[in-house]
Amino acid sequence: MRDVSRRQFLIRMTGLGAGAIGVMLSIPALGFLLSPLFAQKRIAWLTVGAIDQVPVGTPTVRYVDMPNEQGWPVPSERRVVYIVRKSDGTTRVLSNICSHMQCDVHWEPRLGQFLCPCHGGLYDIDGVNIGGPPPAPLPQWVHRITLDPVTGQHVLEVQNQLDERV
Ligand code: FES
Repeated sequence: MRDVSRRQFLIRMTGLGAGAIGVMLSIPALGFLLSPLFAQKRIAWLTVGAIDQVPVGTPTVRYVDMPNEQGWPVPSERRVVYIVRKSDGTTRVLSNICSHMQCDVHWEPRLGQFLCPCHGGLYDIDGVNIGGPPPAPLPQWVHRITLDPVTGQHVLEVQNQLDERV
């Protein structure tokens, strides 16, 4: 009886130990899986460039290098932005990604509209969807314009955040 009890005790303790080790080993894996839920993206302002030469009323292509989230010193990707300067002094910074199936749209001067070549989607100069299948306006970059004290030029910056909608 005493041997059996001892055996049972050892079996239970072994099971308990194995369970504790299993729990301890799973904590890092759980942390890895759940960390994206709690990660906060650092907001950064990315320089697009001087915009004084961007013509009013003509959407103009510029590029912005997105920082590498893994910390590498090289940009992760280069994104196209369309700068739209209006005669009322406002500026919009539009993404070129179609809201239908993410094809690249481009400004079509003959139409005076943004055209998506994939399915013929059309957007007006403010990025509002006005024809074809796109269900929503073009995404719009959060942006700001600062004055470079050295060159005296107005410089456009966009956030590395996801785009906001028009
Ligand atoms: S992807 Fe642009 S219209 Fe379909």
